[in-house]
Amino acid sequence: MDCGFRVKFLGRYVCFADRGDETKRLLDLARRGRSVPLVIYGPEGCGKTSLLRYLHKRLSGYYDYVIYYSPLYGPEEGLTAPDDVKRAVMSLARAVGGELASAVAEAVLAIGEIFVRRLGVRRVDSLALLLDDVFQAVGNAELYVKKALNLAEHPPVEVGKISVILASSEGESLEAVGRHLWADVKTIWNLNKAGFRELVGQIPDAGQDAERLWSAAGGNPRLVELLAGEGWSAERLVEKMYKVRDVDAQLLAKYRKVVEEALADPDVLLDAPRELTRYLVSKNLVAKIVDPLAPIEGGKDLGVGKDYAWQTPLHRELVRLALRRTG
Ligand SMILES: Nc1ncnc2c1ncn2[C@@H]1O[C@H](COP(=O)(O)OP(=O)(O)OP(=O)(O)O)[C@@H](O)[C@H]1O
Ligand SMILES: [Mg+2]
Repeated sequence: MDCGFRVKFLGRYVCFADRGDETKRLLDLARRGRSVPLVIYGPEGCGKTSLLRYLHKRLSGYYDYVIYYSPLYGPEEGLTAPDDVKRAVMSLARAVGGELASAVAEAVLAIGEIFVRRLGVRRVDSLALLLDDVFQAVGNAELYVKKALNLAEHPPVEVGKISVILASSEGESLEAVGRHLWADVKTIWNLNKAGFRELVGQIPDAGQDAERLWSAAGGNPRLVELLAGEGWSAERLVEKMYKVRDVDAQLLAKYRKVVEEALADPDVLLDAPRELTRYLVSKNLVAKIVDPLAPIEGGKDLGVGKDYAWQTPLHRELVRLALRRTG
């Protein structure tokens, strides 16, 4: 737990709960610099944004330039960078035109223009770009990753060390990104049990139910917030998720037998009809596991396999409910 870095959770500021393994791995990678962008995928609400922001803080100590951008916070508010860099990126994005959120995402990759032409900086010792949820804003995830690769492989300014890290929860884009050798793809998962206990232990009325919450949320902090909103009722939350997600119950019924098997062991999705696996991934119910940043805890009880996993146990319950509703 790092109380020097606080994040908002359940309406209050809490200490950043343990992400020791992931942080160490990412800092090690960044320390060496990388010529291939790293793309980290993980369940919705597992803590990608929090981890990237934490990384921003940790890297800021010894990297010359650390730039974080998430279009979800708005084109300007979502950009965290030294003042002169921020001004240069924003002015370039405005000059490029088009939708600003997407123009900023493009502008942060234009480091030749930013550093050499706009800031007059010819050499940068270390540069980290942390790009959070940019794929939707830029439209073409594949092309964006290729641009990031070009930047890291052939930096248009002399750079000692460069790290480009992108995070996304959009399983669909993984298929596009994964079909090239343009990025190193890794999975980030929900918090491990120790980290999850650290997190819920900071919330007096949730801490006492840590074990029950772990079985429902599987370490996913967002799910804890959603459970709190439903008076800690897993049934109510599953019902709501089912309605909101607009699950295609007919499709699940069509593959009922495989879906039932996948409820017990998600790894059966490896050999399941593509239509089904794709659907479950695109609906963010299931995630594909690729070279996890840290060991994934939970096992089959929580719906975690070797190659596929239910994003959380309640996502699995949602599918169970959908099957029941189709008779
Ligand atoms: N290590 C952590 N310690 C404390 N709180 C955390 C931690 N990780 C995530 N949280 C909290 O959990 C919630 C979800 O986290 P976050 O927004 O980082 O997830 P995400 O993976 O980026 O979600 P999305 O997929 O929607 O982008 C937030 O309220 C955040 O503050
Ligand atoms: Mg996020």
